[in-house]
Amino acid sequence: MLRTHTCGDLRADHVDQTVTLCGWVDKYRDHGGVVFVDLRDRYGITQVSFKLDNASEIQHQAQELRHEDVIQVTGDVVSRGEGNINPKLATGEIELRARKLTILNKSRTPPFEPNGESLPNEELRLQYRFIDLRRRALQRNLTLRHQICKATRDYFNNLKFLEIETPILGRSTPEGARDYLVPSRVHEGAFYALPQSPQLFKQILMVSGYDRYYQIARCFRDEDLRADRQPEFSQIDVEMAFIELDDMLGVIDGLVAAMVKEVRGEEITLPLPRYTYTEVMEKYGSDKPDLRFGLPIVEVSDLVSESDFGVFKSTVQGGGHVRGLCVKGAAEKYSRRILDNDLKGIVGEYGAKGLAYFKVAGGKLESSIAKFFNDKQQMAIVERMQGEDGDLLLFIADSWKVSCASLAALRNYLGRDLKLYDPKSMLTYWVVDFPLVSWNADEKRWDAEHHMFCSIHPDDVELMKTDPGKVRAQSYDLVCNGYEAASGSIRIHDPAIQQQVFDLLNINAEEAEQRFGFLLQALRYGAPPHGGIALGLDRWVMLFAGSENIRDVIAFPKTQRASDLMLGAPSDVDSQQLKDLHIKLDLQN
Ligand code: AMO
Ligand code: AMP
Repeated sequence: MLRTHTCGDLRADHVDQTVTLCGWVDKYRDHGGVVFVDLRDRYGITQVSFKLDNASEIQHQAQELRHEDVIQVTGDVVSRGEGNINPKLATGEIELRARKLTILNKSRTPPFEPNGESLPNEELRLQYRFIDLRRRALQRNLTLRHQICKATRDYFNNLKFLEIETPILGRSTPEGARDYLVPSRVHEGAFYALPQSPQLFKQILMVSGYDRYYQIARCFRDEDLRADRQPEFSQIDVEMAFIELDDMLGVIDGLVAAMVKEVRGEEITLPLPRYTYTEVMEKYGSDKPDLRFGLPIVEVSDLVSESDFGVFKSTVQGGGHVRGLCVKGAAEKYSRRILDNDLKGIVGEYGAKGLAYFKVAGGKLESSIAKFFNDKQQMAIVERMQGEDGDLLLFIADSWKVSCASLAALRNYLGRDLKLYDPKSMLTYWVVDFPLVSWNADEKRWDAEHHMFCSIHPDDVELMKTDPGKVRAQSYDLVCNGYEAASGSIRIHDPAIQQQVFDLLNINAEEAEQRFGFLLQALRYGAPPHGGIALGLDRWVMLFAGSENIRDVIAFPKTQRASDLMLGAPSDVDSQQLKDLHIKLDLQN
């Protein structure tokens, strides 16, 4: 070992010991007689002093030290003394008085200092990711990621799950994003698809009798990226046989508790709450509402259908809905300009044609449109909204879908803007009873809400023929702080029911055989009842880290445009490689 301790180890107990540290020069200060260096590794920072009382080699070298040089220092641990303790550093009680300095490697002047005053733009940081990763915040996040993976493995191993790897070179899976394709050299014109998830393989493993499977699996999806999405991401992927829905949720409840225990040392109350899809859509307009705060959506259609306000009246009469939010004590918080521009802009993005707003005063409504509601209607609205004087009432009149989407977005905005929650809390719950299918109006067909292997709610089998839109799936999502943090279902194990679902989705037998023939074949050879789930590992690390940027929890992430700026990927390849793969580029298209 080139060192006796790390830069995070030394405390008052070590005073008078001779030790050797290695690390990077985080900061240096030349105070005439003494050079101070903050020496950094991933464990912490230790202050090293080089006393310059005679012209020796070491002093000369110390004065030459610059940011990010890698050095080895041997010296004596000394107490900093009462007045000089640095409470911000774990090693702040001591410093290392250097006796020997070896420069292991000089660094070029770095494009930025990892723990400098200001964070440079993300592009530069991604390009020099090797320096960016020296930042404390990223080191903390990657350590957290490791802890979560470890807690996951410990948890499942204790429950006798097997960790089984599945192929990366496969064929199209049913998650519904665009595939990343890999051309085959051996099979001219044929392609592998990178897995969007191990879905089909894990179901096959159940058929093969590996009744408790998990894997921390890499998934690939060529989709539009957002702050919580990467083209290449990781799932904690799980599948179990001979279980029912409650068993699956119970196992994952336990996993969440184990992760929280490992990372935060806290116990959580189990079981995690469960809500139905219909409940959360009605109350919060979203299937993944952030429940760290209330602010429920309240319907007033019945109260306004007879009012003189044309927009509300005609919306209700046309089968639409008038729904709104009561924002406590916010009557004076937003100016008309903000209401008419900013807040209306937010709901406008989701298709809302306007935003009606009122203040509650004297138990009645106040606004330019209040005159269209008689006293009785005003009081009824205030009561339904549980409004009190000083509250702000906001309403959208629109279709069910638009009112849900726009009010959900408005609710998220208000929750954050009015600081309605503690950003450190993690609020996790289940959403169950999702619809099996949703109507795709553009393509005029039913699409699977989760995927086509989800089993049907036992009470809804008859509805398959009469009212498919009402059929509930045995599927479940785990939501945390407004993120979809996991998703899964009990699967169909009966080929006849699978056929019914394919029929509904208009997937003909030939297409089904071609795409998933191997799974359908396997299901015919003794498939046990089974179900599973996948947790978005990156999202869980984000949640524990309190970060809103998925790139901050992945060592080598891709940009919004799916590039790796450090590698320069994707990149051109040479013409021989293309030739081997039987590929001719046609870049006009
Ligand atoms: P699903 O497609 O819902 O289900 O994915 C499961 C979870 O993975 C996370 N996730 C992502 N995280 C980062 N970037 C992405 N692009 C991304 N896409 C998804 C989310 C999501 O909840 N095979 C099924 C699971 C099953 O049925 O067992 C599946 O993949 O947190
Ligand atoms: P107007 O009569 O169009 O001037 O609208 C009067 C108020 O009603 C404005 O504050 C609009 O933003 C609001 N408004 C218009 N359409 C809707 C709607 N569909 N839902 C809610 N409020 C609306």
